[in-house]
Amino acid sequence: MRRGSAVRGDAGSKREVRFSLRSAGSRCGSLALAWAIPGFAAAAPPIAPDSLSEICDPSTGLPMPAIPTMFDPASPPAADIEALTWLLFGICAAIFVVVQGALVHAIIKYRARRRDEAAGDEPRQVYGSNPVELAWTVIPVVIVFVLTLASVRLIRDIERTSPPEGALKVVVIGHQWWWEYRYPDLGIVTANELVVPAERPVWLELHSADVNHSWWVPQLAGKMDCIPGHPNTLWFEADRPGVYLGQCAEYCGNQHANMLLRVEARAVDGPLGFDAWVANQQSPPVDDDSTTPGRDVFLALACQSCHDIAGVSEGAFGPNLTHLMSRATLGAGVAPLDRDSLRQWVDDPQTLKPGCNMPSLKLDTNQLDAVVDYLASLR
Ligand code: CUA
Repeated sequence: MRRGSAVRGDAGSKREVRFSLRSAGSRCGSLALAWAIPGFAAAAPPIAPDSLSEICDPSTGLPMPAIPTMFDPASPPAADIEALTWLLFGICAAIFVVVQGALVHAIIKYRARRRDEAAGDEPRQVYGSNPVELAWTVIPVVIVFVLTLASVRLIRDIERTSPPEGALKVVVIGHQWWWEYRYPDLGIVTANELVVPAERPVWLELHSADVNHSWWVPQLAGKMDCIPGHPNTLWFEADRPGVYLGQCAEYCGNQHANMLLRVEARAVDGPLGFDAWVANQQSPPVDDDSTTPGRDVFLALACQSCHDIAGVSEGAFGPNLTHLMSRATLGAGVAPLDRDSLRQWVDDPQTLKPGCNMPSLKLDTNQLDAVVDYLASLR
């Protein structure tokens, strides 16, 4: 059984998902419980795994860390940043040990003793010491100089002014509170989940539609701000297939904390490979007669003025929904994307993501079911 296929295969209840994962006996089992917990669960199960890479994502079967981590790098810039982190940590730890050691030594060796008090003696008073003052000036200067050189060299190594050869180009646009991804060379527009091939460089051009955001997936690269009117660039190259989690790292309003990042680095071939994903994204949206009533509701209401569905509507304010159900999460990671959460979202997004810019359209039950049927068909 493909791991987690039950999750994506149908819109079954969370209980069924949990059961099927358990019965599969896979190492993904611990994830099942997390899956049933609302909120961040889909993107970051709160259950500690045996090792950071020993969890698999239910929608893709790819390894996924339990939390965004910079200590399991999967891309050259992230590996360089981790190495620098350990260098800084090592130097700072050595300073801590030396300073605290001297402090403890002084406290013990020069503590007040009864015989000193009885004699009424003051210890010998020392005023100034050229060797000591020289040491505590020169040594910190040398340390700061080394740290500066190491940091500058790292920045020079990982920042590029042009894309690496053969890179996949993706335009990232931060919105309050979701991510838009455009693949200019492939004609693909999607949202919230960046799908890339593993072992191929990716070149991101970062923009913002409103306020400052920051794109940060610590296993892949350092943070980079998305600033209105000032494009920034960033590159990474996932050295192995996996799901890599991140978080908007610049406070951008009341749902900043629910602006999660999810990057799927896939092998190129295979049914879950990058090429298959591209082919699906480039295909027209599913057009099924049984969902026509829902599409009519979608077009009759405000939905179509915000959301783009290729060939159906041209809204640009909200996420593109052409292949909505090819994604694993809803609302930039606020919930796993299944029929239940989709219905709750369409009914009233504010119950899942308070303050988000999509209002409740107050649909009656028939309209709601029809729209959800339609959206759930967009694979
Ligand atoms: Cu977007 Cu914080």
